Amino acid sequence: MTEENLLYTGKAKNVYKTDNDDEVLMVYKDQATAFNGKKKEILPGKGVLNCQISALVFDYLIKNGIKTHLIKNLSDHEQLVKKTNVYPLEVVVRNITSGSLVKKFHIDEGTRLKEPIIEFYYKSDALDDPFINDSQVHALEIADKKDIAYIKEMALKINQLLIPFFDKSDFDLVDFKLEFGKVDGEIILVDEFSPDNCRLWDKTSHDSMDKDVFRKHEGDLVKTYHEVLQRLTTK
Ligand code: TMP
Ligand code: ASP
Repeated sequence: MTEENLLYTGKAKNVYKTDNDDEVLMVYKDQATAFNGKKKEILPGKGVLNCQISALVFDYLIKNGIKTHLIKNLSDHEQLVKKTNVYPLEVVVRNITSGSLVKKFHIDEGTRLKEPIIEFYYKSDALDDPFINDSQVHALEIADKKDIAYIKEMALKINQLLIPFFDKSDFDLVDFKLEFGKVDGEIILVDEFSPDNCRLWDKTSHDSMDKDVFRKHEGDLVKTYHEVLQRLTTK
């Protein structure tokens, strides 16, 4: 893991080359950011917690037939994953109104939607990840129509699997963000699934148990993520 092997440095993870051209190493960082990096802090312990939570979620999805990039966990903050061509898309699924949806449409927070919403955002720090629709994704050659349909179908299937997964640990899965990549003609789930990229509310108190505690200065992020991991492993 040397600087010359560094392929990509993200806000929450670094990605390194390995001896195998088909595989890369994902290293979780302790950095927390929000609002496209405008708010930034080093929170010791965060990387390990996100790596462990994401490993649990990915293992569960794999057991339930979802193809992902995860090959194996190498340590408590490092994962060996398949190298893919990652679509520059953030695929957001929403079950309950919150976040930017509430801001955009001036609606109440906490309303369960009639059906899940899927949204695409174009991944670009310079542009602040703008919303992009299916027709733009297709016409700008970001993904073809078949791939867009498959990504949406996979995102909804993942949602249907994750709602009961989190419910069992007394969380409402409010919304989340996924990323997908393509390798050998197959579209698979990549990146991570952690409280950094989803909203989890305690089913009884409706308290946020995710990065909103950091975004809104509501509490201790590391303590909150620790409780998420504990609940997922014990309930
Ligand atoms: P939003 O309500 O701010 O659009 O966020 C929807 C979901 O996507 C929420 O669970 C947080 C997650 N998300 C990311 O993972 N990365 C991002 O850059 C943003 C804006 C949201
Ligand atoms: N992912 C973005 C950031 O880390 C935005 C957010 O999550 O609020 O800055």
